[in-house]
Amino acid sequence: MTATASTSIDLRTEILRLKKERNAVILAHNYQMREIQEVADFVGDSLGLSYKAKESKADVIAFCGVHFMAETAKIVNPSKIVVLPDKDAGCSLEQSCPGPALAEYLRRHGDKNYYVIAYINCSGDVKALSDCICTSGNAPKIVQSVPPDRNILFVPDANLGSWVMEQTGRKMDLWQGACYVHVEFTRDSILKIKEQYPDAPVVAHPECTFAVRLLADEVCSTEMMVHFCRSNPAKQFIIATESGMLHRLRRECPEKEFIPGPTTHCACADCRYMKMNTMEKLYLALRDLQPRVEMDEAIRARAEKPILHMLELSR
Ligand code: 13P
Ligand code: SF4
Repeated sequence: MTATASTSIDLRTEILRLKKERNAVILAHNYQMREIQEVADFVGDSLGLSYKAKESKADVIAFCGVHFMAETAKIVNPSKIVVLPDKDAGCSLEQSCPGPALAEYLRRHGDKNYYVIAYINCSGDVKALSDCICTSGNAPKIVQSVPPDRNILFVPDANLGSWVMEQTGRKMDLWQGACYVHVEFTRDSILKIKEQYPDAPVVAHPECTFAVRLLADEVCSTEMMVHFCRSNPAKQFIIATESGMLHRLRRECPEKEFIPGPTTHCACADCRYMKMNTMEKLYLALRDLQPRVEMDEAIRARAEKPILHMLELSR
């Protein structure tokens, strides 16, 4: 067969067959397309996926998410082959904070002796310069664990950082990065959908802007969204995050209705990076064990410490 998978083969069956043959585990983020979520062994948020990657006994981790997530899997489980179906699946937050720019910032502000907390949506280089990693599922807890006399620099997401400051009362200096998907939800776009569904609670990701978070009934990580919607008595929910989340919610709570939060110009929000992975690319990744995530060992070892610190703190 050529480098492109034949359209005549049943991709789902072939993926499941190759998964067994390769002794692979398929980990998928909540934003992946429905078909990928359905073949995955585990679907979750960045925190859950990090634990699964660390604990995995498989020989191959096929990571359906974006590059920093697959790289995290490699960092915590270096002896495994980690494949990412599309090697170009990046993240605007990761791009907003290049390692050399952070190193230079820390050099220039040496007098602050910063404790650096890096949101997991960053490169291995940035993780290697950090004291602790956090995800949207544990950020307030991680920030609260920092000794009160330390100055905190929070990178790269300024929206998540300000939400954490609101939650904890702890002042931090914020890197000015943003998720290009979540900043597309606006006060007006959410008010408009609220008019149509006045009884539906608004559930928003903390990467949303302050104006949107103010309108939300719940602000939480993608995994916490599942718990919130399951336990809340409402029958309809407005979901202000990436559209893939709706597949997960509909699977978990089939009796409830999930309305995508609109942006100013779209009925729902898609992350172009998350959507680069397709069933065909997943099939090829399992077949060819490419594209692989590889890292410089010195950086990997330095980046592992703050991730393990986070995993320990959020148990
Ligand atoms: P979660 O960890 O909440 O799933 O968020 C990851 C992400 O990339 C949000 O845009
Ligand atoms: Fe990155 Fe935003 Fe896409 Fe999440 S939704 S992977 S933060 S660009």
